[in-house]
Amino acid sequence: MKKPADTSLNIHPIIKKRWSPRTFADKPVEKEKIQRILEAGRWAPSSFNEQPWRFMIGFQGDATWGKLHECMVEFNQLWAGKAPVLLLAIGNTKSVKGSKNAVYEYDVGQSMAYITFQLEEEGLVAHQMGGFSKDKAIELFSIPDDHTPIAMMAIGYHGKLENLNKDFQEMEKAPRDRKALSAIVFADKFGDAAELR
Ligand SMILES: Cc1cc2nc3c(=O)[nH]c(=O)nc-3n(C[C@H](O)[C@H](O)[C@H](O)COP(=O)(O)O)c2cc1C
Repeated sequence: MKKPADTSLNIHPIIKKRWSPRTFADKPVEKEKIQRILEAGRWAPSSFNEQPWRFMIGFQGDATWGKLHECMVEFNQLWAGKAPVLLLAIGNTKSVKGSKNAVYEYDVGQSMAYITFQLEEEGLVAHQMGGFSKDKAIELFSIPDDHTPIAMMAIGYHGKLENLNKDFQEMEKAPRDRKALSAIVFADKFGDAAELR
């Protein structure tokens, strides 16, 4: 199933194609591909080049995958339980100067976006998750005090719609929508749509 962005503008094909399915093929993901997607994430820009991103990665069947799955809320466990690869993005909250890094979450999000684009290039799909217990992740992975879990990602090859239960199938078929540019891009005063034509 394809759900390209509904846009008349000529955006990058990877961005147009990407969406967040919840069904994965019963096929492992090659480690070289995972290495490349993480390498893409490594090359994201960050404030003062502090690179606050850290990742836990689990492959189906290994202990890390099991712990990552355990951290998820039940809703996510139901569909992400078929994902061959699970990833947890963690942020280093402290800057090298010892003060709090005010933009670590922004930087980690940017690294995850790079990962997402490389995934599409590799023919993989991903679905990110905020629905998980940060406390459980901290406990299970002994994450130090100056680091915090941010988001999870389920990764794999796209699977069949029929692999999902009826409720998830309906969600999968729902159209993708976005706010209009005029509702998010302003000039003169916050809320006043910018003239882009
Ligand atoms: C940080 C973040 C957290 C998310 N959390 C969840 C989640 O816990 N469960 C879920 O099913 N989808 C989750 N999503 C997926 C979003 O709902 C999805 O990206 C959004 O609806 C847009 O759909 P699209 O990615 O197909 O364009 C999350 C996405 C992001 C980026």
